[in-house]
Amino acid sequence: MSERNPIIDINDLYKHFYLGFWRKKVDVLRGVNLQIYPQETFGLLGPNGAGKTTTIKTLAGLVKPGSGEVSILGSSPWNPKIRQQVGYLPEHPTVYGYLTGTEFLQLCGKFFRVPQRQLKSKIPELLDKVKLSEEAAAKQIRTYSKGMTQRLGFAQALINDPQLLLLDEPMSGLDPIGRHDVRELILTLKKEGRTILFNSHILSDVEAICDRVGIMVNGEIVVSGPIQQLQRPMDNLYQVRVQRLDKLGLTNLKRLSLRCVSTGQGQIEATFNSLEQALKAVSVIRQSGAELLELRTHYQSLEQLFVKEVKKARQEEAQ
Ligand SMILES: Nc1ncnc2c1ncn2[C@@H]1O[C@H](COP(=O)(O)OP(=O)(O)O)[C@@H](O)[C@H]1O
Ligand SMILES: [Mg+2]
Repeated sequence: MSERNPIIDINDLYKHFYLGFWRKKVDVLRGVNLQIYPQETFGLLGPNGAGKTTTIKTLAGLVKPGSGEVSILGSSPWNPKIRQQVGYLPEHPTVYGYLTGTEFLQLCGKFFRVPQRQLKSKIPELLDKVKLSEEAAAKQIRTYSKGMTQRLGFAQALINDPQLLLLDEPMSGLDPIGRHDVRELILTLKKEGRTILFNSHILSDVEAICDRVGIMVNGEIVVSGPIQQLQRPMDNLYQVRVQRLDKLGLTNLKRLSLRCVSTGQGQIEATFNSLEQALKAVSVIRQSGAELLELRTHYQSLEQLFVKEVKKARQEEAQ
């Protein structure tokens, strides 16, 4: 497979389910297009019910496409040989509570036909990687916290040394330390050259980890691209950050700016609608003897883009 061939290739994917007593038809995926290339880390964002899990399950070969084409590693997700090269972390991992962590990993290794001898060295390696102690791995899973279960889920997803990882909400329900560890783990897997698709609604995690992101709303990817491209400068907006500004300086800054807010620790952040206004503010700040910390273009954050796109898609839907 050449560098140019996508590892994940979804074209015009549709999927519907029939819901409730009246078997009402609900379109869950409505023309999804997504290409992910070798060694990329792609973050799929979207509000609840957008269709993220259904997309991932289709790639994991757990949901049959309605119409459209889905291929991974150049073949169908239903191809057993292909499945051998994929690691999947479900949104709610099903683990057998009465097995110990180690027993569970042995079982998963058998599913993937990893030789017993290899498993002996592989399991401690994986436990180390996901930071689950051997002591914890010797305990029954039903005694695990959410964070421990998630770590075990990760170890399970890595048991076959997959080149493609599908991670469904790997950070959800974790405390800040757990989230930090998972974030570090994904970065390690990325460095190892694996291709990763994960979905999340925690924007800062996506921002920190992904090369590209897509925003999914109502079963469609409404915008996607490299993260730097999506965080483009907002039309002609500039920001100045300053500290130790006196009262008169503050009054002048308020007069010149669109918005002027205190950001704590004696710092003020002001936004201007032209570079000219921002430079006038810089001279006001100089005159007042305050300290100019930064003058920058105001970038659209991923959060602003996310909110904008979700609102837009919902408005279009309502019309
Ligand atoms: N197996 C299923 N049967 C019926 N409806 C489903 C099934 N799986 C998902 N859905 C519905 O599809 C929609 C999208 O779900 P999902 O893909 O889980 O979204 P997300 O992961 O973005 O929150 C939801 O409205 C959900 O109720
Ligand atoms: Mg989901």
